[in-house]
Amino acid sequence: MRKKIVAGNWKMNKNFEEAKALVAELLGMVEAEASTTTEVVVCVPFPYLLTVQQLTAGKSIKVGAQNCSEHTSGAFTGEVSAPMLQSLHIPFVIIGHSERRQYFAESYAQLAKKTDQALANNLTPIFCCGEPLEVREKNEHEKLVKEQIEASLFHLSATDLQKVVIAYEPVWAIGTGKTASAQQAQDMHAVIRQHLASKYGAAVANSISILYGGSVNAGNAAELFACTDVDGGLVGGASLKSREFTDIVKAMKA
Ligand code: PGA
Repeated sequence: MRKKIVAGNWKMNKNFEEAKALVAELLGMVEAEASTTTEVVVCVPFPYLLTVQQLTAGKSIKVGAQNCSEHTSGAFTGEVSAPMLQSLHIPFVIIGHSERRQYFAESYAQLAKKTDQALANNLTPIFCCGEPLEVREKNEHEKLVKEQIEASLFHLSATDLQKVVIAYEPVWAIGTGKTASAQQAQDMHAVIRQHLASKYGAAVANSISILYGGSVNAGNAAELFACTDVDGGLVGGASLKSREFTDIVKAMKA
């Protein structure tokens, strides 16, 4: 059975004191909702990784980074490598978030290398894909998302692909308060799974968790999570509020 995952993406928010306070709140609230079937992850800014890792040790909340370099080590000032994350025992890393594709011009080839780095260092990549509004308006969203997946993931062996978590995040739904309808999410998740099946077979495709992201909140999570091919959420804004994030985790159990 594929894993259910609710992952928070804090992006570039919170100072250190606020970050610790949020984790303390989450430990008090999410812990009570912890289930063996849902994995709860918080993807925090690099400077907070170690502290959040220590604060959540032995608890049900797992820690993720929001990016890693495509290089192993060397003269890449300001970058953070996958081996560094592994040395901190960080289990997850977001790869190819649309904000990184858009503002940092991350290419398909670069994201393929970042995915390889993550996998080579025992990190679970949460690989993001999703179309901007103008692409959906032209009805080319399925084509683009398939292309994103093919270009950065289809070089992987079936064994490695099965270690990847995919997050479908339509760019027009991120931070806009405009969520994809449950039907739109289900349709695209089914397309993604079908595309994976076309290359790797149905058994592999069915074992991969596909999360939905884009304005997930406590009000819409249950409906989205109820979709057959939606295995959880990647949550931005709502993951910064302990009560709301906890309610989203609860929605997964419902
Ligand atoms: P949002 O962000 O929930 O604030 O829309 C989601 C994401 O970018 O991962």
